[in-house]
Amino acid sequence: MIKLSELYSGKAKTVFKTDNPEKLIMEFRDSLTAFDGKKKSEAPKKGYYNAQIAAKLLQLLEEKGIKTHFDSMLSGTEMVVDAVDIIKIEVIVRNIAAGSLTKKYPFKTGQKLDPPILLFDYKSDEHGDPMINEDIALALGLATKAELAKIRKLALSINSILIDYLDERNLMLPDFKLEFGRRKGKIVLADEISCDTCRFWDKTTGESLDKDVFRFDKGDLVAAYREVARRIVPEIFKKK
Ligand code: TMP
Ligand code: ASP
Repeated sequence: MIKLSELYSGKAKTVFKTDNPEKLIMEFRDSLTAFDGKKKSEAPKKGYYNAQIAAKLLQLLEEKGIKTHFDSMLSGTEMVVDAVDIIKIEVIVRNIAAGSLTKKYPFKTGQKLDPPILLFDYKSDEHGDPMINEDIALALGLATKAELAKIRKLALSINSILIDYLDERNLMLPDFKLEFGRRKGKIVLADEISCDTCRFWDKTTGESLDKDVFRFDKGDLVAAYREVARRIVPEIFKKK
């Protein structure tokens, strides 16, 4: 596979075209931002840990029958993915109240949400990723009713799979964000699942092991991401 020109550079990943029009290369960078890009930083190896965590979790989901864009790893930080038609909706799944939910509504941080809460945000930096409901998604033509139903079902299945897997690794999953795309008439998961896009809390101490460490200056971001990598992809720490 040959890496061709840059297609798009986001806040933490850069996407490249390849000589195969059906495949893209997604490079996980060490840069990170929060609060609509207002807070910026660099963290050495952060891209590597996120790429390795995402690769492992996407393969886990594939094994459990969830279609994802994951193809293979080209290097420690470069993931080959299927090109998809991205649906401009950020799907947030919440199992425990945290973050913006506790700012906007009278939920207490740490409060269990059973059944989980699903929220949809319109993926648009220009509009500040506003929360939308199904009617707005339909009126904007973001997805069809059938696609939204499918996305909801997939998000809840992904949530159950991840909760069980992370629980065995002594991690809680308060919430996370997912994006989906269309490929050959099917809805596929087309996102990373990483410390940038999930909240991970240590089950014993409740400590944040995710981007909240950066958002709220809670300590050493790289140490937190490394700890999640140790639990999810221990094989990358084995001496060769
Ligand atoms: P929030 O509490 O800040 O709304 O975040 C909810 C979840 O979504 C959290 O796990 C972090 C993730 N998230 C993203 O992946 N991208 C974003 O732009 C935002 C705001 C949140
Ligand atoms: N990713 C978003 C930003 O860079 C927000 C966040 O994750 O807090 O602004």
